[in-house]
Amino acid sequence: MNDQSLITNLRVQLDAQQAAHLYRQRRIQNAPAQPRGNSDGQPVLSFCSNDYLGLANHPAVIAALQRGAERWGVGSGAAHLVNGHTAAHHALEEELAEFTGQPRTLLFSTGYMANLGVITALIGRGETIVQDRLNHASLLDGAQLSRATLRRYAHGNINELNDLIAKHHPHCIVTDGVFSMDGDLAPLPALTQIARAAGAWLLIDDAHGFGVLGRGGRGSLNHFELSANETTIVMGTLGKAFGTFGAFVAGAEAVIETLIQRARSYIFTTAMPPALAEATRVSLLLAESDDWRREQLRALIARFRHGATQLDLPLADSFTPIQPLLTGSAARALTWSAALETAGILVTAIRPPTVPVGTARLRITLSAAHTEAEVDRLLATLIATQPAPD
Ligand SMILES: Cc1ncc(COP(=O)(O)O)c(C=O)c1O
Repeated sequence: MNDQSLITNLRVQLDAQQAAHLYRQRRIQNAPAQPRGNSDGQPVLSFCSNDYLGLANHPAVIAALQRGAERWGVGSGAAHLVNGHTAAHHALEEELAEFTGQPRTLLFSTGYMANLGVITALIGRGETIVQDRLNHASLLDGAQLSRATLRRYAHGNINELNDLIAKHHPHCIVTDGVFSMDGDLAPLPALTQIARAAGAWLLIDDAHGFGVLGRGGRGSLNHFELSANETTIVMGTLGKAFGTFGAFVAGAEAVIETLIQRARSYIFTTAMPPALAEATRVSLLLAESDDWRREQLRALIARFRHGATQLDLPLADSFTPIQPLLTGSAARALTWSAALETAGILVTAIRPPTVPVGTARLRITLSAAHTEAEVDRLLATLIATQPAPD
């Protein structure tokens, strides 16, 4: 193949993706993460951020980042195992352990890397890992990278999970705590029992549960009044409800020590900037103490769901800030999202392969930073722009 045909091949594939309404494009934002923004030069009211508590642009978090940069500089300069692990990182890990009620935590640069790291450190070739079909892409990628055999059960289907366990004796069961595109919760009371009885690890990706669910935002396990045992491992991201960037894994002492020895996405990468750890220490305190943010969020979710039900919008069964409206085809999702944008409201269309074919959707997310009037405007605009059925 010559240079020209390599490029031609890519063009053909990109054109096919565009023709199938699956082409992805970025918008250029000109304001911080907050509901009232500016996208591609136009003022917009957005309902697609994961900044559920409105902390990403909080003055105390910004001030902590500034003080952190003055104290520590910008870059950490090296990986955690070389000399990039500062007292700021260490303090945040200890505070996250206290918050999650787990013996220890370990910071990762992103949630994607945390999931790759945990799965590849704990299981390998010749072993089996079982996952919910709607788990986040990073969990599925972690399983591929581990070379273990991946088996998947239908979303939330405990009978299918039990069949897989009886047949394949998995070493690890993996689930989202709150499913990122659907907003519903994993059946954690059943999963914790099943994992224990099967002698398997249970890995919970609680990217969308921490900060939002449970007492003081302690996440999905706490929501169900469950506490982690030694073989339960929880992953949380810092770029969503905590409003900063990065991720952590919480678990038993031996689990965290194993990750330090073996998780390649921990070992072979630069530690996050220490100033970010300082900013997160402040946002963690706010997330825990500001119950009013969770109350405001719950009230807005209830208002949205009540209005959407009255308007007969295609709501999903979710009580979290993730409120998808199922549109069916990718083309319909795109048409609806574009019409909303023309009316000054930003809601992204989520299409395959992020979600299964035929289940494209508008992924609406609510934040404590929204107002009741903004939710009402969203509802009115959704109804005014709803495209005809496929
Ligand atoms: C369920 C879930 N897990 C993991 C991630 C990855 O986290 P991060 O953005 O920190 O890489 C995301 C989203 O980004 C997510 O929604």
